[in-house]
Amino acid sequence: MGNILIKNIKGLGGIRVENDQPVKGEGMNQFECLENAFLAIENGEISMFGPMSELSGVIDWNDLEVIDAEGKYVLPAFCDSHTHIVFAKTREDEFVDRIKGLSYEEIGKKGGGILNSARKLADMPEEELVEDALVRLDLIKSLGTGAVEIKSGYGLSVDAELKMLRVIKKLKEKSDLTIKATFLGAHAFPLEYKDNQDAYVDLVINEMLPIIMEEGLADYIDAFCERNYFTPEQLDRILAAGVKAGLKPKIHVNQFSILGGVGIGVKHGAVSVDHLEELDDNDISELKNSTTIATALPSCSFFLNIPYSPVKKLIENDIPVALATDYNPGSTPSGNMQLVNSLACIKMRMTPNQALNATTINGAYAMELGDQLGSISVGKKANIIITKPYRHFTLANFLYSRWS
Ligand code: NIG
Ligand code: FE
Repeated sequence: MGNILIKNIKGLGGIRVENDQPVKGEGMNQFECLENAFLAIENGEISMFGPMSELSGVIDWNDLEVIDAEGKYVLPAFCDSHTHIVFAKTREDEFVDRIKGLSYEEIGKKGGGILNSARKLADMPEEELVEDALVRLDLIKSLGTGAVEIKSGYGLSVDAELKMLRVIKKLKEKSDLTIKATFLGAHAFPLEYKDNQDAYVDLVINEMLPIIMEEGLADYIDAFCERNYFTPEQLDRILAAGVKAGLKPKIHVNQFSILGGVGIGVKHGAVSVDHLEELDDNDISELKNSTTIATALPSCSFFLNIPYSPVKKLIENDIPVALATDYNPGSTPSGNMQLVNSLACIKMRMTPNQALNATTINGAYAMELGDQLGSISVGKKANIIITKPYRHFTLANFLYSRWS
């Protein structure tokens, strides 16, 4: 890898010097931007940056690729910490069912939703799943994403969960995005376990998890704690087993109802608790006394037409907030982090700086990548976005356009 100099940058955004924890509270409003800047990259890492006026003396011009970023902004790439990007087919039929009045939960109860995706994935060969997911990864990369977490959870049998996680392992090898893998065997109960749901939890813990650990297929453990899905007691068992096996939790909680899953996640040292469309004071105090990141998924709220997470409350309470896409074939058919930024501002009333921090540095920490990615800092990977030329650095003009 050679050395690269990006010069004449109109605005170099997302600069962070102190950088050892997620941003929270007032810190979420700081997204430092240096005007008329340069950025030097050595062997894929940020080696130096500063004002153009200081450039001439400090750079070794030998063997250097120079990029002129006149009129453009350079920012850290987005870190999308919650997706379900490996799947067989999208579920347009359910989109129409929802328009006609059925809720996500009603569709799920009829055997649709996650179970529908599991039926579709069961027959699809591993190679095809890899090929299709690589296309989606290329798409999100073109939209500005540099790192992504991907979950299993459309397998729901030993073989199919392993297949999904092996696909994610291949994606890690083949894609130049940074990828983290999450085991979500506890995403929904297969129909054959309808009358004996604890037996499915046993299968997740006793059959799936040991093989996953033996093959090193997952970085995190997840479960969907919700009425008609996994109970708080089942969540507790699954997370305890995952932690014992060596996986930290990142969980689905409080999408439709508050069952106490946030506290259980915190108790098991969850890296993040995700969704949080519903939130009460108890959840807030659990999070306040923890290192767990609160992750909101505004495009899921948009596509399902459900409430948005009350993130302002989280920020006021000094709880670090990350934002992710939840890209999946049913509830959220979009992996666009620019849309997430826009919805965060328009629907959740985050400021642009808060949204940018939540989609970059805090997204990185929600995948335990905060020391390598998510900001413009010396020593971090040069995982960056160069925008099209802009005259003004406003959210409207840079978030509604494609990166160049
Ligand atoms: O995060 N809510 C649970 N799981 C996913 C949806 C998966 C699906 O509908 O396929 C989510 O929204
Ligand atoms: Fe999800």
